[in-house]
Amino acid sequence: MALDVQRIAALAGEYADKDPREILKLALQEYPGEIAISFSGAEDVVLVDMASKIGGNFKVFSLDTGRLHAETYRFLEKVREHYGIPIEVYFPQPEAVEKLVREKGLFSFYKDGHKECCGIRKVEPLVRALKPLKAWITGQRRDQSPGTRADVPVVQLDPTFGSPERPLVKFNPLANWTSKQVWSYINEHRVPYNELHNRGFISIGCEPCTRPTNPGEHERAGRWWWEEETQKECGLHAGNVR
Ligand code: ADX
Ligand code: SF4
Repeated sequence: MALDVQRIAALAGEYADKDPREILKLALQEYPGEIAISFSGAEDVVLVDMASKIGGNFKVFSLDTGRLHAETYRFLEKVREHYGIPIEVYFPQPEAVEKLVREKGLFSFYKDGHKECCGIRKVEPLVRALKPLKAWITGQRRDQSPGTRADVPVVQLDPTFGSPERPLVKFNPLANWTSKQVWSYINEHRVPYNELHNRGFISIGCEPCTRPTNPGEHERAGRWWWEEETQKECGLHAGNVR
């Protein structure tokens, strides 16, 4: 049965403190064949591991911006082989990337912000990835950013990519887990992980826009470090920025 608006609000409360596996189970049961995990190639691999163990009819997609680290590409392939699952890779529209790079060069984001490039390389492909779906699953956690993610619910109506005519449900099963819990799970279940994590990278995005963090620094301090803290969302989760 599809989830209606009131039921989502009720479930967000009911599942707020549940284990991510319970939340995933609910998501996979409610939307067989119409749900996908949005996999970034970082520690959100735990979602792929959990969902593979639960089983069900779900897709996994990644947005290949063309600017990911070589390690991330290798990791995506490792995950595909390890779990024996297809990963649907979405690329940006070549004409849009060509125009941006021709007019502004390859590193325009350092000068005029990341929004334009993220819009072309991540958001537009995400819109295409979401088109056939009724629901998607992300690895967002509240502890990732006190500035923008402190209120992320475990399930919500997507405020950015859904609409009243075409509601889209967004599950964030890791919302109430800490980074420590994610890493305990990875170690306990011997989940493969991106080798960049062994080199000081905590949060991983595109290569030119991600750097390792120093001890004591918040994990998203390594993302778009030249920009203001409260704006550190790339558009995939723009609804988090008020
Ligand atoms: S971002 O918006 O700042 O880039 P972040 O890296 O914290 O997001 O990741 C949060 C979640 O967004 C991931 O767990 C994943 O679900 C989704 N996501 C981020 N980047 C990608 C990507 N390149 N491909 C697919 N999903 C992604
Ligand atoms: Fe472009 Fe950086 Fe955004 Fe990647 S994170 S799409 S390189 S601005």
